[in-house]
Amino acid sequence: MRTQIAAANWKMNLKYQQGEKLLDEILDTKLLLKDHQKVIFAVPFPYLIMARSEVSEEKNYHAAAQNCHHKKSGAFTGEVSAEMIHSLNISYCIVGHSERREFFSESNAVLAEKINLCLENFITPVFCCGEALKIREAGTQNDFVALQLKESLFHLTPGQVSSVIIAYEPIWAIGTGKTATTEQAQEMHAHLRSVIAGQYGDELANQISILYGGSVKANNAKELFSCPDVDGGLVGGASLVSAEFIEIIRSLKP
Ligand code: PGA
Repeated sequence: MRTQIAAANWKMNLKYQQGEKLLDEILDTKLLLKDHQKVIFAVPFPYLIMARSEVSEEKNYHAAAQNCHHKKSGAFTGEVSAEMIHSLNISYCIVGHSERREFFSESNAVLAEKINLCLENFITPVFCCGEALKIREAGTQNDFVALQLKESLFHLTPGQVSSVIIAYEPIWAIGTGKTATTEQAQEMHAHLRSVIAGQYGDELANQISILYGGSVKANNAKELFSCPDVDGGLVGGASLVSAEFIEIIRSLKP
């Protein structure tokens, strides 16, 4: 079975002590993960070492960065490089979240550079794609997300692309309480997989974990994760509440 992943995206929320308490509450429930299951906590940069040490004894639990800069190093005041993240022993990073694309004008080309730097630094990118409401209403979402994959990922070798995690997050479902239906999620995930198969072949496409994101909650996770091509979720709001996120972890395919 493909790796099934519950990924928390804290965004710019929680003070340090609140983050620590949240991790304690989640980890104290001792949810043992199977070999094919993973839990990832994408926390603000200053919390990375704390999160890493919280999960260090737990099998298949990991800390992640939410972003990295697209240049290797240099005069970019306030930015954080993939190399710095790697030097903290962190091996996951979200790349291309729609909020980065929208508020920080990150293009598919810039995201390709970030992906390269992550891979050079042994960091697994969680690459986000997804369409805005206007595109969904126009019915062109399939071409739109295919282009996101093509322009940011398809320069990679098969070996490189097989270590990327993809998160499909329709922008109209993020933080809105409006979730894609299971039919919409399954249809898009199958489409993404077929686009990858077109470039890299079926075998490789079948190995890649594709997460769904956008208002995943304790009460809808199981249904969404039960779709054959949905391999878990990238969770914002509900990952800030221990009881919610614990239930979401429990909803991963067994
Ligand atoms: P949400 O956010 O779960 O609050 O909709 C998901 C995300 O942006 O990753």
